[in-house]
Amino acid sequence: MKIDLTFSKTSKTACDLAVFVVDKVDEYPADIENIADDKLISKAAKLADFSAKSGESFTFIAPDGSNYGKVLVVGIGNGELDEVNQWLNLGGQICAKIGSAEKVNVFTNSAGEGQSEDLIAHLAAGLTLRAYDFDQYKTVTKKKDADKVRKIKIVDVNHLKIKKSFVEQDAIVQGVILARNMVNEPANTLGPVEFAAEAKALEEFGIKTEILTEKQMSKLGMNALLGVSLGSERPPRLAIMRWDGGKKSEAPIAFVGKGVVFDTGGISIKPAGGMEDMKGDMGGAAAVIGLMKTLAMRKAKTNVVGILGLVENMPDGKAQRPGDIVTSMSGQTIEVINTDAEGRLVLCDALHYCNTRFNPQFMINLATLTGAVLVALGNHHAGLFSNNDELADQISEAGLNTRERVWRLPLDKEYDKMIDSKFADMKNTGGRHAGSITAAQFLQRFVGETPWAHLDVAGTAMGSPKTDINTSWGSGFGVRLLNQLVEQNYE
Ligand code: BES
Ligand code: MN
Ligand code: ZN
Repeated sequence: MKIDLTFSKTSKTACDLAVFVVDKVDEYPADIENIADDKLISKAAKLADFSAKSGESFTFIAPDGSNYGKVLVVGIGNGELDEVNQWLNLGGQICAKIGSAEKVNVFTNSAGEGQSEDLIAHLAAGLTLRAYDFDQYKTVTKKKDADKVRKIKIVDVNHLKIKKSFVEQDAIVQGVILARNMVNEPANTLGPVEFAAEAKALEEFGIKTEILTEKQMSKLGMNALLGVSLGSERPPRLAIMRWDGGKKSEAPIAFVGKGVVFDTGGISIKPAGGMEDMKGDMGGAAAVIGLMKTLAMRKAKTNVVGILGLVENMPDGKAQRPGDIVTSMSGQTIEVINTDAEGRLVLCDALHYCNTRFNPQFMINLATLTGAVLVALGNHHAGLFSNNDELADQISEAGLNTRERVWRLPLDKEYDKMIDSKFADMKNTGGRHAGSITAAQFLQRFVGETPWAHLDVAGTAMGSPKTDINTSWGSGFGVRLLNQLVEQNYE
């Protein structure tokens, strides 16, 4: 649903749907006077057993002579909704009830109990996130009103303060939407080169972007990453994005994303069933590019590096084979047991590059890395692995605050031993057991002493259950989580 969101003090304009956000029964905004018979609303409230608690709502058709078509009354209780997330969800719930209405006025009362400008800005953000859909490829079955732009007006006496508060929320929304778009976009139109161009396009927001070509990566010795790309007609790219919002002298924080635009498995080819989902195997890189956009748009006061490892994993006469041994940029050698364990091969060079070039305060990588994390945690938590308790705690807390939850899993030398190789320094799979952990152990061999965390988002970046603020396959997971981490701890 396309929406045009504005904020205004009063609204005398007619609308198809008026939404009243109320904390008490029978306390409605002044504009209720527009409804010819205001006893009607009390009657409707009674019939709906409405007591203004959160989660309660009712709808009625406004009588003739009213400025409104339909009226939706939504309860928020008395201080029951005190978390920003609940207001995001409330916005999403309201969006879900817009139906065919083209003009919608949402009446809030920032001066009222349990409301505030900031919370209402979150409502507006939740509404916008819920409105997202990826339907540009539907030409036949698309509903006729899908392309209509809905005019949504948030009506509140403190509309200017809400509007100001929304600037930051909008930065988050735009980052999430970018991440969702990237994940939803099919691989025929989004290859490594196209993805890199998206990173370049963010220069518009003050981000500096460098794009490394195959040749440049080859010179740097990134043979683990390049090996994955051998079977693809489309050349790989490494995108390096920088947002410098902090002091010049301050080391940056760094985010690294797995950007496999399509993962066939390579020569260790995947079964056909469900393989189409592997267009989302760049969910980690999508989160990083989305996060960079958010941080730049809200002018975060910190230095940030975002690195995207962009490749396609295809089987071909030139593709790498099981048994091949590659030398990574770090000098460590890797025996490729399974060409479908390609994400770690991409990330190990991206992480080593990031660490040696930028010497960052920390590195967090995001990757749709293992099916095993779905077995362990399903769609509800991302797997978190870290060599640093403080960083891990900060991420976990941001997860609880944003409801983009993570669950920490162990790293230890016994697991590390599982990836020792007969022929090289390590192999790229650790056998059937503890698949997510051995993948993380592999990455840890490339981060040195730098505080580091790995988020395995295979279960959360795509195909996760619908929520109040997301009905899209590509969820944009990680943008809100890491924006919160930065805002709380690194600005
Ligand atoms: N991209 C996949 C992981 C994945 C699976 C992401 C399902 C999203 C949904 C990854 O490259 C992969 O294929 N991992 C293998 C590793 C194995 C060969 C050691 C896996 O999980 O099966
Ligand atoms: Mn794979
Ligand atoms: Zn993969």
